[in-house]
Amino acid sequence: MKLQHVIQSQQFSVPNLMELFGRTRQMEKIVQRGGTRDYDGKIMATLFYRPSTRTRFSFESAMYRLGGRVLSTESAKAFSSAIEGEQLEDTIRIIADYCDVIVLRHNEEGGAKRAAAVSPIPIINAGDGAGGQHPTQALLDLYTIYNECNTLDGLSVALIGALDTGRTVRSLAYLLSKFDRVKLYFLAPPELQISQDIISHLQERDVWFHLASDPDEVLAHVDVVYQTRIDRERLQSKDVSMSNYDINPAMLRKMKSDAIIMHPLPRSVEIDPAVDRDARAAYFRQSRNGLFVRMALLTMLFEAE
Ligand code: CP
Repeated sequence: MKLQHVIQSQQFSVPNLMELFGRTRQMEKIVQRGGTRDYDGKIMATLFYRPSTRTRFSFESAMYRLGGRVLSTESAKAFSSAIEGEQLEDTIRIIADYCDVIVLRHNEEGGAKRAAAVSPIPIINAGDGAGGQHPTQALLDLYTIYNECNTLDGLSVALIGALDTGRTVRSLAYLLSKFDRVKLYFLAPPELQISQDIISHLQERDVWFHLASDPDEVLAHVDVVYQTRIDRERLQSKDVSMSNYDINPAMLRKMKSDAIIMHPLPRSVEIDPAVDRDARAAYFRQSRNGLFVRMALLTMLFEAE
């Protein structure tokens, strides 16, 4: 598969995804054996203009597990020439001379696309802006669903949170829309519902979806409950409360016995820690899958060179 930049989840076809997931399973075995030296000599730069724990650390661990090395700035706004006014395009041109792939989290929507437009080496979008995308998160989310549910066809998935700016939900909705008989429930207050571009995409592909604001209307019907972080400050400024969307033991009782609960993390208060003990809580397994999926993705990029 020819894969140059990873900017948005729409660019993946179902055969691409199945190839990635096959490789991901191999990576789980490679990590159990302590890693490989197959990519000795490869260098990855992680250029993050916004904070991250999972995405940056798992990409860096992935590169080390493959035998490569890492150049990193965890706070590029403060610790790169951005502070002196350097434009993203110039920064990318410079760093591209020092490495083989750049993992970029940019504060502006469209940042990864701008970087890819000038980069001679692959750019991986590690999240752009508030309403952009986070395609590698969606890849690991989809892999987790595939692993836990043993299929991607015919599933009912609830996507919950401030969906208007939820880049993980946006990326995941695009990926799920590629599978047969999928049903998507977007669960949010009307002010924070999923944006029109996603709705139009689903309508064009004839994908079943439902916009809901009442958790009781949705939870008993779904195989996957995908909760997202709730920014309470933003909610206060919009005068919206989302406490009735929090996943807690009472909510667990409303879900199917074999449903899974996912969250891209970090969480705030939207999943009660008491839920962690329930076997349906898949979010830590999901986060762990990020390492394997990102290893697999790097191998596909390096082999496409
Ligand atoms: N899920 C996710 O993107 O987490 P980080 O912000 O910690 O990378």
